[in-house]
Amino acid sequence: MRKPFMVANWKMHGTHFDTMQWIQALSYQMEPSDYDRVDVGVAPPFTSLRTAQIVIGADDLPIHLVAQNLHWADKGAYTGEVSAAMLSKLSVSYVIVGHSERRQMFGEDDRTVNRKVRAALAADLLPIVAIGEQLEERDAGQAEEVINRQLSGALARIPAEQVGRIVIAYEPVWAIGTGRTAEPAEAQKMIRHIRSRIRSRHPEAAEEVRILYGGSMNPGNVAALMAKPDIDGGLIGGASLDPHSLAGCVKYWT
Ligand code: 13P
Repeated sequence: MRKPFMVANWKMHGTHFDTMQWIQALSYQMEPSDYDRVDVGVAPPFTSLRTAQIVIGADDLPIHLVAQNLHWADKGAYTGEVSAAMLSKLSVSYVIVGHSERRQMFGEDDRTVNRKVRAALAADLLPIVAIGEQLEERDAGQAEEVINRQLSGALARIPAEQVGRIVIAYEPVWAIGTGRTAEPAEAQKMIRHIRSRIRSRHPEAAEEVRILYGGSMNPGNVAALMAKPDIDGGLIGGASLDPHSLAGCVKYWT
C-alpha cells in the first residue's frame, strides 16, 4: 500500500523567519494521526533549510525536509550550487529534480535530470522527479510522448532496486500556477500511463513508486484528485504558502 505524500513546494518564497512561523502554524493544524495517514514534506528555499531543520527537530515533528534542487557533483568549482552531501547534513530526505521551471528557465534537460537523480540516490536522498508536458505539446497530441521521454531520461541507468524509492510528480506545465487544474480523470489517465511505463521495465517497483499530481492543487480540488487510484499525493505550489491551506490538502479526506 502506497502512503500518500503531500509536499509543499514554496519555490522562491519565504525568508527563514517566515519558515519558522509557517512550520509552527502547520504543526498546530495537524493531529499525530494525520501524519500516520499521510507523509508531509516541505521544500523551502535553500536559505531556509537550516531553520526548518531546527524547528522540525526541536518539536520532533514528523515533517520531511525537501530541497528544491541539487547539483550532481559531490563538491567542486560550481559557484552557487549545492550538493547532495550538503543537503543530507541538514536532515533533508527528499529533493525535487527536474521541475518544469528549472527545465524551462535554467536549461535543465533529461540528461541533467538523470545525473541529479543518480547523485541524490547515491547520497541516500530520495528524488521527487517532476515531469509534465507543455500546453502546445498537449494540443499537438504529444503529451504521452513527452512524458515517456522525460521518464526514461530520468530513470536511465538507475538500478532496478532503487527505482521503487523514487517519487514521480506529474505536473502538466499548463496547470502550474494558472488555477487551471487537470481534470481528475485526465490526471489519473496520465499518472496511470506513467505507472504502466514503469511497470513495463520494473514490474515490482511500479507498485511502490509514489506518483504525485502537481498543478493548482488546493483544498477545494484535492479530494477529487486523491480519489483516483493512481494519484498518491500532491506537489503543491501556490496553495502551500498558506499553512492552513496546506493542512487542508493534507487532510484531504475531511
Ligand atoms: P502550483 O500549485 O502553484 O500550480 O504549483 C505547482 C508546482 O509547480 C509544484 O511544484
